[in-house]
Amino acid sequence: MDKFNIAIDGPAGAGKSTIARLVAGALGFVYVDTGAMYRAVTWKVQHEGLLPEQEDEVAKLVNRMDIKLIPGEGGQQVFVDGTDVTKEIRSAAVTTHVSLIASYAAVRQSLVALQQQMTKSKGVVMDGRDIGTHVIPDAEIKVFLTASVSKRAERRFKELQESGTGTMTLSELEQDIARRDQLDEAREISPLRRAHDAVLMDSTSMTIEEVVEEILGLCKDKVGGG
Ligand code: DC
Repeated sequence: MDKFNIAIDGPAGAGKSTIARLVAGALGFVYVDTGAMYRAVTWKVQHEGLLPEQEDEVAKLVNRMDIKLIPGEGGQQVFVDGTDVTKEIRSAAVTTHVSLIASYAAVRQSLVALQQQMTKSKGVVMDGRDIGTHVIPDAEIKVFLTASVSKRAERRFKELQESGTGTMTLSELEQDIARRDQLDEAREISPLRRAHDAVLMDSTSMTIEEVVEEILGLCKDKVGGG
């Protein structure tokens, strides 16, 4: 089977990362979590003592920092200038400010260039908000994955509890998810929206396995032999 690229977009907590990782594993493809890259920039901004509102300073910083994503068994590891920040980028402080950082043109330009580099050799499952519309508009498979706000908050709550990084209550998470949806959908550059040729999947009442099966089915139908 020839290699191809899969773009998975959708709002926070729709299950994109877990699903993209499982699809990549089943196909022997590389999984790339682009949200982690925006989080890495946000972590660096805070680590350097900058305010997220200092757009010009953030733009300079993004052009001199090195972000590396290393695919691993338990998921993707994230390094910023040689420091492993895989855990730190999931903190509440980063989560609160990442949408603002992700709205800056210089940040998006720099990260999109990196992402496009990663998809050149194909065989990539990439998840984010603008992958099907902007980063890989020619991806062979595009999925727009969504779920109700309450279901997404519930899932993220469980995930954070399990990883021992949960400091927010369920209702705080629900408010935060709704706020981030709004920011991601309303921003001027590459807002979150479904590509016209993306398959819409609502995972509110589907299990992770069911969504994964459906995507693998799409791969078989579209690309053949999958
Ligand atoms: O998927 P996530 O929650 O880790 O994403 C973190 C933030 O980054 C989220 O607010 C939206 C933004 N993001 C984006 O603007 N474009 C992407 N391709 C991926 C994430």
